[in-house]
Amino acid sequence: MKLSSAKDRILIIIPVFLLLVLHSSCHSLSRITPSQSLKDGDVLVSEGRTFALGFFTPSNNSRKRYVGIWYNISSKPTVVWVANRQNPLYDNSGVLSINTQGNIVLVYNDTHLNRNSSIWSSNVSISSSSHTFAKLQDTGNLVLIRNQGRRKVMWQSFDYPGDTRLPCMKFGVDRKTGFNRFFTSWKTPDDPGLGHVTLMIDPIGYPQLFIYKNGAPFWRGGSWTGQRWSGIPAMTPNFIYHLTLVDNANEVSLVTEVLDSSIFSRIVLDNTGHETRTIWQDKEKRWLQVGYSPTEDCDHYRWCRSNSKCDPYNGDKFECMCLPGFEPINLQEWNTRNASSGCARKKNVSTCQSGEGFVKVARVKLPDTSKARVDKSESMSY
Ligand SMILES: *[C@@H]1O[C@H](CO)[C@@H](O)[C@H](O)[C@H]1NC(C)=O
Ligand SMILES: *[C@@H]1O[C@H](CO)[C@@H](O)[C@H](O)[C@H]1NC(C)=O
Ligand SMILES: *[C@@H]1O[C@H](CO)[C@@H](O)[C@H](O)[C@H]1NC(C)=O
Ligand SMILES: *[C@@H]1O[C@H](CO)[C@@H](O)[C@H](O)[C@H]1NC(C)=O
Ligand SMILES: *[C@@H]1O[C@H](CO)[C@@H](O)[C@H](O)[C@H]1NC(C)=O
Ligand SMILES: *[C@@H]1O[C@H](CO)[C@@H](O)[C@H](O)[C@H]1NC(C)=O
Ligand SMILES: *[C@@H]1O[C@H](CO)[C@@H](O)[C@H](O)[C@H]1NC(C)=O
Repeated sequence: MKLSSAKDRILIIIPVFLLLVLHSSCHSLSRITPSQSLKDGDVLVSEGRTFALGFFTPSNNSRKRYVGIWYNISSKPTVVWVANRQNPLYDNSGVLSINTQGNIVLVYNDTHLNRNSSIWSSNVSISSSSHTFAKLQDTGNLVLIRNQGRRKVMWQSFDYPGDTRLPCMKFGVDRKTGFNRFFTSWKTPDDPGLGHVTLMIDPIGYPQLFIYKNGAPFWRGGSWTGQRWSGIPAMTPNFIYHLTLVDNANEVSLVTEVLDSSIFSRIVLDNTGHETRTIWQDKEKRWLQVGYSPTEDCDHYRWCRSNSKCDPYNGDKFECMCLPGFEPINLQEWNTRNASSGCARKKNVSTCQSGEGFVKVARVKLPDTSKARVDKSESMSY
């Protein structure tokens, strides 16, 4: 009797011990391979430890679990990318692994079907998982690599941006395939689901930066001046980044090179239609805002409508003004500070003293260049 009860105790103690060990071990991985998965609680850390990938729960949203990449520079993670944006998990059974086809897949314990179901996948066509692994680069890019003699990137998270633009990320349109890398806001600050705000480069005519809200233009960042978007005067060339717009028959894209890699920065598009540019202040352990667009009423798309300009520094006066030679179409409405009817050419008034000519309008964004053609042999001054 005594002996068997001791055995019982041992049998009971062992499973309890194993359970404790399983739950307290948080692995820090450097790669995901076909034999090394990432469980909820584990993290995949980039070589320089700047970024980490793992499971997280957005604030005020206690039930849902997402796989994301975050800046691993303070105790409070700053999420920069989310895999299963539209399909959260509701328990801790999620596992990120490489399946037999060589894709990165997020599976969970599907209690309805009583099996593991996939909820997200990198979804590229690779036929086998041999020599395949996933790695988190120090730029915050999750890459799926096939290493057969030479390394080939099969898939990368930078090709599927979320709401955050990071240095080294390239965004824009592949003119040959139509593949477009653009940003989509979260639904709300605590729901990473696809929101109604997007930020993209419009490749038509001469390239422009746009924020769209519910599909309609909300902000025109302007055309590329050679060094910055014309609608972001603060984006002057500096010691942190070097920006290059590539515009040729193959693509329109903006590539950011980081000159000082010790500076952590990000640009976040939110569900109100604004982008916020911030830089990490390590001493104060907070993100410092260095830019915000659109800033004021004038910055909004078509705020003053046709043939007008908008001056936010116009004192108490109405910020909208008709261009030289133009007048409000509906003066009564205009006098109530309502520009919705816009301006039209004044009748029988010659603006230019003797016949045709040009009038300089200073301190304005270059007008919409979607119908413009640019002679690239000329340099563009701003
Ligand atoms: C980065 O991630 C590792 C692993 O999760 C963690 O131990 C470390 O504290 C993180 N770094 C910072 C600065 O929080
Ligand atoms: C999945 O969930 C069911 C029901 O909770 C449980 O019985 C089963 O052990 C789980 N399977 C795995 C692999 O965790
Ligand atoms: C589900 O996935 C887990 C973790 O990868 C694994 O341990 C388990 O055996 C899988 N269950 C089934 C039914 O495939
Ligand atoms: C996977 O990719 C194929 C072809 O590119 C597409 O038709 C399919 O909808 C994708 N599946 C998922 C789950 O995204
Ligand atoms: C979470 O809720 C608190 C209190 O309601 C609020 O102050 C905070 O802004 C919320 N955070 C997010 C990210 O929504
Ligand atoms: C401005 O005028 C338009 C009619 O042209 C009207 O529909 C709109 O409500 C007016 N806006 C305001 C703020 O009064
Ligand atoms: C504009 O000038 C032309 C010729 O000078 C004249 O025929 C026409 O009536 C004028 N229109 C208005 C609206 O004054």
